[in-house]
Amino acid sequence: MKNKGRFGLLLERIREIVNSSLERDEKLRSICKLLRENFSHFNWVGFYLVDEVKGDELILGPFEGESTEHVRIPFGRGVCGQAAQTKKTFLVQDVSKETNYLACSPKVKSEIVVPILKDGELVGELDIDSYRLSAFTEEDREFLEKVCEILSNLF
Ligand code: SME
Repeated sequence: MKNKGRFGLLLERIREIVNSSLERDEKLRSICKLLRENFSHFNWVGFYLVDEVKGDELILGPFEGESTEHVRIPFGRGVCGQAAQTKKTFLVQDVSKETNYLACSPKVKSEIVVPILKDGELVGELDIDSYRLSAFTEEDREFLEKVCEILSNLF
């Protein structure tokens, strides 16, 4: 078999999960597990989903890692809320330098938040925290943006 590389194989696995008969939250949880197991610098992996009633708030969805007090985040607050407003990936290589930041654990040093868009509208986000400074590469960003494109089909 042609070697698709690690990212390619993971994207294939993610497509399989998305197309499986699991409930949406189970699919999202499996993807959190898969990502966390495959990348040692992904210490907390979770989803925030747009509150369909309020429209301008995120609700914590399935996640893997330490529990967090941030179960609801208004658009504009923290790294997640800012990514929700801009609908663009927000990569913070050093969270201690980000003034609009909601701390979950003092262990977290860097964070990436990737929006999930459906027909151009925000439906959710993939949020990953790392205990390492400057943990995320451009390859990670490209890979995670592809993951979120695939996940758009779940909404
Ligand atoms: N740090 C995020 C809050 C969510 S936790 O990382 C799980 C933020 O600033 O929005």
